[in-house]
Amino acid sequence: MTTVVPAATNAQAVAWHHRHLIDVDVVTCPEIALIMRTTDVMRGILARPIRKVPALNGRRVTTLFYEASTRTRVSFETAARNLSADVVSVSTATSSVTKGESLVDTVRTLEALGAEILVMRHAVSGAPYLAAEVFGGHVLNGGDGWHAHPTQALLDLYTMRENLPGGDLRGRKVAIVGDILHSRVARSNIWTLTAAGADLWLCGPATLLRGMDRWAAAWAGGAIPGHGRFNVTSDIAAALRDADVVMGLRIQRERMQGGLLPSLREYAARFQLNAERVSLAKPDAIVMHPGPMNEGVEIAPDVAISGRSVITDQVANGVAVRMALLYLLAGAHEAARVPAHEAARGGPRAR
Ligand code: CP
Repeated sequence: MTTVVPAATNAQAVAWHHRHLIDVDVVTCPEIALIMRTTDVMRGILARPIRKVPALNGRRVTTLFYEASTRTRVSFETAARNLSADVVSVSTATSSVTKGESLVDTVRTLEALGAEILVMRHAVSGAPYLAAEVFGGHVLNGGDGWHAHPTQALLDLYTMRENLPGGDLRGRKVAIVGDILHSRVARSNIWTLTAAGADLWLCGPATLLRGMDRWAAAWAGGAIPGHGRFNVTSDIAAALRDADVVMGLRIQRERMQGGLLPSLREYAARFQLNAERVSLAKPDAIVMHPGPMNEGVEIAPDVAISGRSVITDQVANGVAVRMALLYLLAGAHEAARVPAHEAARGGPRAR
């Protein structure tokens, strides 16, 4: 098993060579380690009275969200501004998308208007790949359909490392409970957490786990080098017992086909992360949720705000992780020919 963050590796020994970030399945373990270290630097910037550095001065970041978002959109825009980028925010509800403009035409139009880095969210899985085919700059996926939410998985990983002794996930039990079937967060977390060596358990009603057992069986055979196996179960007690991390996932009513759940009340009765169930986890286990939460459905309100909860830490870490990714994708570290910690001191300007 490859550890995600080798303790004493020189950050500059790992080059970032991805033009886009659409899925974490192409990001290697050393690259994840680079993202984590760069995020540490960005956290340092965010701890200052003035949270701004000139690393992306003059660069143009455009957000294009075809689906609702609070956390991802606001944190990307905040991250870009913290790096001194110019930010344009396109709301599809008030754009020419409402007049029938295609994704390809919209992306070409935004590029003609100066977009260099495009952060997009789309309800259709794979839409960012199409955008990347026609866009001359960098595409960052802010979540596409059921497919991937790479920045969420990376901020989840960062938050777990921050809260687990030694920052090491090897052998740590992580239970993800909820609507796994429709969850791009779960799919991206499978890649990052198995790369980190976590003992990953996915849990929910059988109808919301469809296909996961085949995926788990394939990986158990060592199908993906560097990634460990994971478990799939509808036994909530087995999933939560002695867990180090408990993560709830939203019941995605908008993606639910008829018949997948008898009722939200029955789901809550059998799978809600309430105080009694969470007590099965280790006494110092942390509780996570990517948001938005349906409190009273997949998570009890008292658990969401309990001393174990690091849900607001996840949101805050989202800004630092996205600063790191914008910085790496924009090539600021190469253009400036300085490591992130020097750029954080206000070093040479990126392009
Ligand atoms: N976790 C997440 O993607 O939240 P938003 O939908 O608010 O961006």
